[in-house]
Amino acid sequence: MAKKNIGKHFDIYPMPVVIVGTITDGKPNFMTAAWLTKIHSDPPFLAISLGERQYTAKGIRQTGEFALSYPSIDQAELADYMGLVHGDRVDKAKDIEIFKGSLESAPIVRACPVGVECRATQTIDLPHDYLFIAEVVNVYATESVLTEGKIDPVKLRPFVLTMPDNSYWALGDRIGSAWDIGRALIKP
Ligand SMILES: Cc1cc2nc3c(=O)[nH]c(=O)nc-3n(C[C@H](O)[C@H](O)[C@H](O)COP(=O)(O)O)c2cc1C
Repeated sequence: MAKKNIGKHFDIYPMPVVIVGTITDGKPNFMTAAWLTKIHSDPPFLAISLGERQYTAKGIRQTGEFALSYPSIDQAELADYMGLVHGDRVDKAKDIEIFKGSLESAPIVRACPVGVECRATQTIDLPHDYLFIAEVVNVYATESVLTEGKIDPVKLRPFVLTMPDNSYWALGDRIGSAWDIGRALIKP
């Protein structure tokens, strides 16, 4: 199959959409993020890249803590709003009901079905962003999105982001079992 070189600016797709909660300058703040990934299983670590201008990044640097709230499609508008304005100009937490877990500085949006408390352990300076490496301390979930105690994506109804078309998408059809459907290609 022929291939065309389309440059070097690449967006991993799709990306999860989360709302990052911090305590910045002593007050709760929330922002939307998509540049994040799991990087270690046990103990669980993730990495998230935040622009150096983000008020949220300031909060993580102040307290070393943050939370990820996972919205369902019902909170898509809220999640988009949290990514449109900066917390040092607008009080985005004003009308948000906050769930507080065990960490002091990791506010979770109560309306979001899943909340993940994180403790930052390392910060890597990138040219314009901070890459925060963080250990997951606790995961909280609303009972209605669980099946046998585990998060069920069908019940959670998450959405994902694609760039550069800047679109949100619901999950599509389940196409098979991971670590399984490829077995058909294993040679005896
Ligand atoms: C869907 C979406 C995803 C975003 N992902 C990120 C991200 O991963 N990192 C980042 O620094 N900004 C990201 N942003 C931009 C911030 O959310 C936005 O600049 C926000 O206003 C920052 O808020 P704050 O200054 O209160 O922290 C995203 C925005 C949207 C709408």
